Amino acid sequence: MQLEMLPVLHIVVIAYFVLYALAYSIPYHFAPTQAFLREDLHLEKPEFGPQSSLEAWIREEENIALDRLLRNIAPGGSNTEDAVPGTVIASPSKTHPDYYYQCEQPLVKPLHPTQVLTASGIRDAAITMRTLVDLYASDPTSYLSTKLVPLLEAYAAQSHALQHEPNPSGTFSDLSGLGEPKFLVSGHAFTGSWGRPQRDGPALRALTLAAYLRAYNATHPLQWHRAASGAAPNPFADLYAPELPARSVIKADLEYVGRVWRDPGFDLWEEVRGLHFFTAMVQRRALRDGAALAAAFGDGGAARWYAGQAVALDAFVQRFWDDAKGHLVATLESSRSGLDCGVLLGAIHGTADDAVDDMFAPWSDEVLVSLLALVRDQRQRFPINAVPSAPVTEDGKFDQLAGVGIGRYPEDQYDGYGVSPAGGNPWFLCTASVSEILYRSASHITATKILNVTSTGLPFWSALLQNDDLSEGTLYRSGDEEYAKALQRLESVGDAFLAVVRKHTDGEGALSEQFDRVTGYERGALDLTWSYGAFLQAVKARKTLKADDQ
Ligand code: NOJ
Ligand code: NOJ
Repeated sequence: MQLEMLPVLHIVVIAYFVLYALAYSIPYHFAPTQAFLREDLHLEKPEFGPQSSLEAWIREEENIALDRLLRNIAPGGSNTEDAVPGTVIASPSKTHPDYYYQCEQPLVKPLHPTQVLTASGIRDAAITMRTLVDLYASDPTSYLSTKLVPLLEAYAAQSHALQHEPNPSGTFSDLSGLGEPKFLVSGHAFTGSWGRPQRDGPALRALTLAAYLRAYNATHPLQWHRAASGAAPNPFADLYAPELPARSVIKADLEYVGRVWRDPGFDLWEEVRGLHFFTAMVQRRALRDGAALAAAFGDGGAARWYAGQAVALDAFVQRFWDDAKGHLVATLESSRSGLDCGVLLGAIHGTADDAVDDMFAPWSDEVLVSLLALVRDQRQRFPINAVPSAPVTEDGKFDQLAGVGIGRYPEDQYDGYGVSPAGGNPWFLCTASVSEILYRSASHITATKILNVTSTGLPFWSALLQNDDLSEGTLYRSGDEEYAKALQRLESVGDAFLAVVRKHTDGEGALSEQFDRVTGYERGALDLTWSYGAFLQAVKARKTLKADDQ
């Protein structure tokens, strides 16, 4: 009996050893950077409960958001098995919402089940990778940064591949293909019907990669210097090189943006064809950054042309201010109200962190009154907003800026799974964008030491300061009581909107796309990468503000 068992035992032992060996070799080849990161972020036991302070929750959620964001990036992200390196999936959700057949228009041909989409990859990916570039730039030698560099490198390489992939928007040879918003995670074109082209993607990608180049250069200055002086081959040639026709990723994107910004395309919500504030704002910033980059690479002609197009965009973006409505509109000549979280996002992604004064910056009067108008609309639109976080202030006044859930725009019908008449819901990324605008405004006022209440900004400042007698032309300076109150309110109102995000976050700290207008529960695409990015960016703006306070 025992002897008969022996061969079996041998097989078992051998199999065991094979498995053991494999267990060691698999992680070695495939990715486990993020497993280490998970440990490093101390994610094993969330310590926040309903009683913890907002501060404690933010600290915890920051780690969770970063971890979950990284899970959606290849190589290494646990949700990205089928994806080629450098892919950022918009969400791991494959069914309900079905990112295959999601929109009203049925797809031309069904996709093979393994061809999971990176829904709307270019915009979401660029915004996501920008969050990582900024983290890298803040401390290039940190442990985290050493883990981020391979992801950033893969993203740069995959950007080059996607630019060259022929697709329904066009091809690389005339650059028309750069307007394609979405690809399969295999890196192949998505051929279903969709709102295309979308002309914000190349601008956002150029901004992200240019920021990476700058950050990388900050730690390797010699390479840049030698390349720019022509003394050595340009080590960044894949990212930026003066040649035309453009073969480097950033230059191709900048050429595209410089040529097409006057042409209509689909908006960031992929629904409306036209000319859009968000798109124009990120195009303007890309061309400005691009001009500086071109100059640094000795590409003087391009630098002048990009700068010239950016100036033309300065004039163009002014058309989005609607004097009669008293706010910025998302799309020109649209039948919609124009109130739109895309306006806030345009200000956020269209304005450099270190911008001093800029048209339609987050702290500009036009953006702040647009924010107020959107908040007012959304408060009365969604049942869950009927009981805002803090309806009444200390002195008993109704707070028009009490934290509420913010959706995309008033007319929205997309409920996260399909379209229905009153379908819209609040979105995490839109709610977080309100906080970011307010924190960045507070930082701006701290830096300038002045608060100037103009006729345009009056409605916002009256609401913020809860002072109906405030008049235009009022000037508050650092040291004034009202100046201090404005700063304190910008921060606490920003926190109130983050508290709304917190309230609807699930027990694991996961963020989907939307939260239900009636029940408040999460809905739409699970683990939406952009939700995490928007939250992290708001938190970053909050930290900057807190550091200024010191
Ligand atoms: C998917 C798009 O991404 C989303 O923005 C849109 O609202 C829905 N389709 C419905 O058209
Ligand atoms: C729908 C959103 O409307 C769009 O902006 C986004 O790019 C995609 N979902 C993917 O997250």
